[in-house]
Amino acid sequence: MFTGLRVRLTLWFVLLSTIAFTLLAVGNTYLFRTALTNALDDELRALTEQVAPLVYIVRNDLKARGLMEQLHKSPYGLKTTVQLFDSHSELDEEHGQKGNSRLFLTTTEVPGPTGNLRSKSVPLFQDGHLFGYLQIQIPTAQRDLAVDKFVFTKWMLGPVFLFGLALAGFMVSGKAVKPVEEAYRMLKMFVQDAGHELKTPVATIQITAENLAEDVKDDPEKSESLAIIIRNTDRMSRLVTDMLTLAKMEAARSSVKLSRISLKPIIERAREEFSARFETQEKKLEIQVADDPSIMADSEALYHLFSNLIENALKYSEKGASVTVSLKNKNGLATLSVEDTGMGIPKEALPRLFDRFYRVDRQAARARGGTGLGLSIVKAIADMHDAVIDVASVEGKGTTFTVTFPPV
Ligand SMILES: Nc1ncnc2c1ncn2[C@@H]1O[C@H](COP(=O)(O)OP(=O)(O)OP(=O)(O)O)[C@@H](O)[C@H]1O
Ligand SMILES: [Mg+2]
Repeated sequence: MFTGLRVRLTLWFVLLSTIAFTLLAVGNTYLFRTALTNALDDELRALTEQVAPLVYIVRNDLKARGLMEQLHKSPYGLKTTVQLFDSHSELDEEHGQKGNSRLFLTTTEVPGPTGNLRSKSVPLFQDGHLFGYLQIQIPTAQRDLAVDKFVFTKWMLGPVFLFGLALAGFMVSGKAVKPVEEAYRMLKMFVQDAGHELKTPVATIQITAENLAEDVKDDPEKSESLAIIIRNTDRMSRLVTDMLTLAKMEAARSSVKLSRISLKPIIERAREEFSARFETQEKKLEIQVADDPSIMADSEALYHLFSNLIENALKYSEKGASVTVSLKNKNGLATLSVEDTGMGIPKEALPRLFDRFYRVDRQAARARGGTGLGLSIVKAIADMHDAVIDVASVEGKGTTFTVTFPPV
């Protein structure tokens, strides 16, 4: 029970860590790329400042002197493109690597013949007149390579990092769950101990009251008072038994030994035990056995499950109602259903139906002798067998409980 909680906690932790890690990785990559782009732009700015004074005009055409020496000095060397444009943005000269021959007035990233280029241009003035533009472009390949390496390392390290986190999360959640597990164990032990302690005094009261009732059967007033005591002790005794059964079934979940059994004999046993009560209450019990699948089960616990469902069908239906118990092999899974034409269950009550002490109509259920633990026991037994219970009900029409067992 707590292993599931522990695994869920770890999965949540890993999920949140993955989201945090991804956001961080994306943010880091963006910042890293921006920093490298800024460095490229700084380099472009320095280059334009060095090259601009080398440009001059010869018969209306732009020329540059000593340019190659300057380029050799730059970290990008001959990979740099230097372009001179006239005042009508027409390319006059291009030096160094072949670049993008359009003029871009802002510092920007542009496609080049062999990959992207970072491009910066500056206007050139003489005597206050614009006489052209200097544009310098440098390849972004080195920056892109560095970013790719950065991303690759992050994604390579990611799974290792997350696996470490999952491991740590599992250990930490184990520690976090431990006190809850301990408290739950103590509570269960308390219920079992209290149940056992209550059993004897309740039985003693019951026997004593029954003996007394014999003695005072001629006194109607005392008889009535004793009948109340007997009725309530009876109820208390059933409650204690149900509480103990529930505690036992829940505790048995991890330790129970299941053996391969056939379901038909269990249904036959139910028919034998219930038929007289159905007859006296003028209700019909129909058994439909289409297949006789065998499953891995604890037959005593399983009988308890079905008898609780049949008991409810009997209890929550009126005279003339019919109850059909059917056994099928549906899609290779053993399926047992108990269908009644009783009072039905309101839709809003269905989600709470298997809760302890839950009764749709507390007064009515109490009058019928219900403690509200029957379906909790049913659920605990189904869990013990990894079986799934479904309920379908229409108020005023009837209810069907279906138990589907896992494949053998
Ligand atoms: N077949 C059914 N038809 C209509 N209502 C049902 C049916 N089965 C269960 N219920 C409703 O669900 C409630 C819970 O059922 P559950 O078996 O847990 O308790 P109970 O029958 O009241 O008491 P117990 O079974 O412990 O004696 C019941 O009080 C009843 O209101
Ligand atoms: Mg019941």
